[in-house]
Amino acid sequence: MAVFRVSLLLPLLLSSVLLMNRPVICDTDEDDDLFQRINSYRASLNLTTLTRNENAECLADEMAEQFKNQPCTNSTGANTVPGTETQLSNYPTLLTKCHLNVSNTRDGAVLPACVPNLVPSLVVSNFTQSQYSENLNDTKYTGIGIGSEGNWMVVVLSTSTPEGSFATDTSANLVSKIHPLYHLLFLPMVAFFLL
Ligand SMILES: *[C@@H]1O[C@H](CO)[C@@H](O)[C@H](O)[C@H]1NC(C)=O
Ligand SMILES: *[C@@H]1O[C@H](CO)[C@@H](O)[C@H](O)[C@H]1NC(C)=O
Ligand SMILES: *[C@@H]1O[C@H](CO)[C@@H](O)[C@H](O)[C@H]1NC(C)=O
Ligand SMILES: *[C@@H]1O[C@H](CO)[C@@H](O)[C@H](O)[C@H]1NC(C)=O
Ligand SMILES: *[C@@H]1O[C@H](CO)[C@@H](O)[C@H](O)[C@H]1NC(C)=O
Repeated sequence: MAVFRVSLLLPLLLSSVLLMNRPVICDTDEDDDLFQRINSYRASLNLTTLTRNENAECLADEMAEQFKNQPCTNSTGANTVPGTETQLSNYPTLLTKCHLNVSNTRDGAVLPACVPNLVPSLVVSNFTQSQYSENLNDTKYTGIGIGSEGNWMVVVLSTSTPEGSFATDTSANLVSKIHPLYHLLFLPMVAFFLL
């Protein structure tokens, strides 16, 4: 029976989590590199250091996942003509996945860039020397989440106001909707992917 097999697997998976001395949020080197470079850029302008925002990071990862199969062109990512940005129809789903609510993300900024092979120097200039510099120059942003997939790098900026805090949404009562067993199953599965 499926339930029986799962219950056999569970201790095994759980122990693999315990043995694994890794934080749940695991960044790629590219993401860390960009994080440092963006903060150096901010420092050069005497702006505050952006701190990591886990929920913004979750959204950045989800967005990168959506973009990853789109090729880079001269009208994608940082080259996008303002006003013609790709609207993801499943954006609300992505927000829900990250326990976010549009009421606390609306003042944030989502900045997707497409750079073949994510060449670090080009990635950073796609943010600091494009239309996106307007956002990076802005004092209202205090937090950052970075995600990358394929040739896409997504930066999500958060503010310290309620409208852009990217605070975990509790209004939807997400926790009670999900059966506790799913949490148990989900965690080892996530860990498995990270292995
Ligand atoms: C940053 O602050 C330093 C010291 O206050 C000042 O010399 C420098 O001109 C400032 N740079 C910018 C870009 O405002
Ligand atoms: C983008 O590329 C297309 C086709 O490759 C070209 O026709 C167009 O002029 C380019 N646009 C810009 C802004 O470079
Ligand atoms: C952004 O990356 C593209 C590669 O996709 C590169 O051709 C372009 O020069 C970069 N733009 C900036 C402003 O660095
Ligand atoms: C952001 O600041 C830099 C450095 O002062 C400047 O070169 C750039 O034009 C600014 N970007 C925007 C969109 O104002
Ligand atoms: C977002 O939050 C508001 C108020 O905090 C709530 O009324 C609304 O149902 C929430 N939306 C979703 C999709 O959870």
